[in-house]
Amino acid sequence: MTKILMVCLGNICRSPLAEGILRSKLPSNGFAVDSAGTAAYHIGSAPDQRSVAVAKKYGLDISNLRGRQFEVEDFDRFDLIYVMDSSNFKNVVKLARNDNDISKVKLILNEVHPKKDFEVPDPYYGGDQGFENVYNMLDEACEIIAKKVTN
Ligand code: 4NP
Repeated sequence: MTKILMVCLGNICRSPLAEGILRSKLPSNGFAVDSAGTAAYHIGSAPDQRSVAVAKKYGLDISNLRGRQFEVEDFDRFDLIYVMDSSNFKNVVKLARNDNDISKVKLILNEVHPKKDFEVPDPYYGGDQGFENVYNMLDEACEIIAKKVTN
């Protein structure tokens, strides 16, 4: 079983999209995908309506997902922890207990552009185009991740 966690700040915009996209590219047998936020603002919340809408546009239903906060036990539960930006990276690594924990944490766009440390921009305060942009970035990254983990 390969277990993959997607992490952003609020767990309502970027990481629920990443969760839905990656899940749609993997067989349900042998893989688990989840998401979490580093902040506690949106625990129990459904994804932002704009994330739900852009996912729906591309045939994915993420409306049943609910926000939760990243916790230290997630280092034990997951093999790979993909973060959206360097602030998420810093906040997750802060909770790491050892080098093995840290080695699981990766900036998701480094799968597309190795070692460039590009970030998935936070679309929360922007318009719908920001969500479309985020969707396309995550779709490209998740395609690569899905190929990697199923090989
Ligand atoms: P996310 O976006 O990290 O992609 O879920 C955000 C959602 C909410 C907030 C910030 C970012 N907020 O400040 O409430």
